[in-house]
Amino acid sequence: MNIQRSNGLKGEVKIPGDKSISHRAVMLGALAKGTTKITDFLQGADCLSTMECFRRMGIQIQNTSGEVLVHGQGLHGLAAPSDLLNVGNSGTTIRLLSGILAPQPFSATLTGDASIQKRPMKRVMEPLSQMGAKIESLSGNGCAPLRISGTPLKGIHYKTPVASAQVKSCILFAGMYADGATTVTEPVLSRDHSERMLEHFGARLTREGTAVTIQPEPQLAAREIPVPGDISSAAYFIAAATLVPHSEILIRNVGINPTRSGMLEVCRAMGADIQYLNERDDSGEPTADLLVRSSSLKGTVIEGAIIPALIDELPVLAVMAAFAKGETIIRNAEELKVKESDRIAVMVENLSAMGADITGTPDGMIIRGGPALHGAEIHTYKDHRIAMSFAVAALAAEGTTHIEDADCVNISYPDFYGDLQRLSR
Ligand code: S3P
Repeated sequence: MNIQRSNGLKGEVKIPGDKSISHRAVMLGALAKGTTKITDFLQGADCLSTMECFRRMGIQIQNTSGEVLVHGQGLHGLAAPSDLLNVGNSGTTIRLLSGILAPQPFSATLTGDASIQKRPMKRVMEPLSQMGAKIESLSGNGCAPLRISGTPLKGIHYKTPVASAQVKSCILFAGMYADGATTVTEPVLSRDHSERMLEHFGARLTREGTAVTIQPEPQLAAREIPVPGDISSAAYFIAAATLVPHSEILIRNVGINPTRSGMLEVCRAMGADIQYLNERDDSGEPTADLLVRSSSLKGTVIEGAIIPALIDELPVLAVMAAFAKGETIIRNAEELKVKESDRIAVMVENLSAMGADITGTPDGMIIRGGPALHGAEIHTYKDHRIAMSFAVAALAAEGTTHIEDADCVNISYPDFYGDLQRLSR
């Protein structure tokens, strides 16, 4: 894919459904009694992997244009899969599903692509084992494939060393089947979509600070789930409209859950011009339309408690920082190294190739804005967020940028290039 400098972005875009919420809607819909109707479900490869895993466990799911119907069989209604469960590239699928599979009366094996087979699974194996689960890394390296032999679980209080919504959700989902209450305490609050959706489906949760407790054996009842647009996908349009002069765009239907919207705060601190319009609440998730106009940016420091609320947006924030005046420091973001690619190393490699002044650190990066960026050959390592971040950089850089393996955007935003091209002049 070749992308050239843009003369400005104009118009409106409706962002596809939130990836985290789409996964959870299928999972909890499958474990509820009755038919859950999901609108604006994200038709990206990761969420389709989740759907396919549940189909293999006997759940009927209709996926017609515009809506998904999940015919839930209740908490104890899953059937043993006849084959491997393939999560593809999806960390959310493998980690959340591990929590659901651990207490089932059957065994299953979870596997995925080359990237997923390198990502750390000990972070879910450890708490699940404490609950009594039998879960084994078949390669013995703490990564997938994972063999899970279902067994009864006990409730625990787990203090997670990492702020990870995938770990927290895995334990809460397993906790639905435990013999008593299960509590997870995080060092910093991560995205709370599981908590919100569990409550929406009828589970009993108590939340205090960064701790959440779930009571076992909830009676989950089918619900309608309107999925808000994914702020992590909106981030590319926010960045593009900010960076490319003469831009003004309206981004419709963006989820602005405070545990996800750290990027908006940071952009505003950097000098971005973002207005919230039409704020509303859709089934427990706040949404708004965002009006974004181009503006000049200044460097900032991104660190501490805000990191989990913008972890997936750090690559595109690094791109914005390269166009900002002054220095931007990103700290406490070592989790970037264990995403779909090592996002610290990959950002340093590619932004340097475009002429940026960037240094990688063990837990982030330092970017000194100033040098004009030029087109380059971008190595995405098949990481969707890297491809989209550099499509944005390309719109604001001199010359032509070539993005290798550009179709990896199918993971979270299949029409990304089409939407970007439609807005760009
Ligand atoms: C996600 C949580 C985050 C995020 C990922 C989706 C989720 O991962 O990076 O894209 O849906 O729970 P971690 O839990 O590993 O931080």
